[in-house]
Amino acid sequence: MAYETIIVEIEDHVALIKLNRPDALNALNAQLMTELCTALKDAQANDKVRCIILTGSDKAFAAGADIKMMSEKTFVDVFSEDLFGPESDAIMRVRKPIIAAVSGYALGGGCELAMMCDFIIASDTAKFGQPEINLGVMAGLGGSQRLTRFIGKSKAMDMNLTGRFMDAEEAERSGLVSRVVPVKKLMEEARSAADKIAEKSMVTVMAVKESVNRSYETTLREGLLFERRVFHSLFATEDQAEGMAAFIEKREPQFRDK
Ligand code: CAA
Repeated sequence: MAYETIIVEIEDHVALIKLNRPDALNALNAQLMTELCTALKDAQANDKVRCIILTGSDKAFAAGADIKMMSEKTFVDVFSEDLFGPESDAIMRVRKPIIAAVSGYALGGGCELAMMCDFIIASDTAKFGQPEINLGVMAGLGGSQRLTRFIGKSKAMDMNLTGRFMDAEEAERSGLVSRVVPVKKLMEEARSAADKIAEKSMVTVMAVKESVNRSYETTLREGLLFERRVFHSLFATEDQAEGMAAFIEKREPQFRDK
């Protein structure tokens, strides 16, 4: 499919999706969200793809939801169309891992989109923020919910109430991002993490993603039981036998996703 607001490249086992609205700092409009969901669905369906990287430009991962698009809308419009609801549900349904490679601005919906990914690798120029309050609205895609779980109430409250930006160093210290690298190394680092994941058994990778995400949806007791049962169920796979045999035989495992 020909896209206008994103660029998709599939190389080896990795689908690279680049947000591409440079004139609007990759602001999320309806077309971009639709194209992103289609690309993610295609990557999910493509057996060759084992990991997805979502990125933007050096200047902006995404500067938020498109304010020009939203400025025309009324409550009835956004409520009736459930603005961004179907797209965020679709992103959360992707079972393959998604790494967000963030450089520059990740604000509002941009920060929230990065948080919908499985983990964030940031460049040292990244800036995260939930500045919606300056527009007379508030976060609508997870900025008051996921961010609070990721960095705790005090910092999430600070970000959402003052609209201040957090730099990459603070984001790493707070647990929002998993690694920070120089901007020139960002894609290399994301690619290397994706290659590492692509070597694993896909069944196991999807089980891990499901289990970690379950921790956000449930009590600790239920989550631990879910984790244990998924762990048990992986003993039904050939990859479990192969992974353990390879360790004992001191060789690299040959996973077959079975
Ligand atoms: N929506 C639409 N257009 C945007 C945009 C956005 N979120 N962010 C930037 N742009 C556009 C600007 O309007 C500008 O376009 P023009 O040249 O046509 O005027 C272009 O991108 C470049 O932006 P700036 O000239 O402002 O660039 P800058 O370097 O001076 O500033 C910035 C960069 C600090 C990121 C600033 O653009 C900014 O504050 N952007 C808005 C950030 C924001 O408020 N995001 C939250 C949106 S609401 C939301 O996301 C709701 C939700 O939770 C779902």
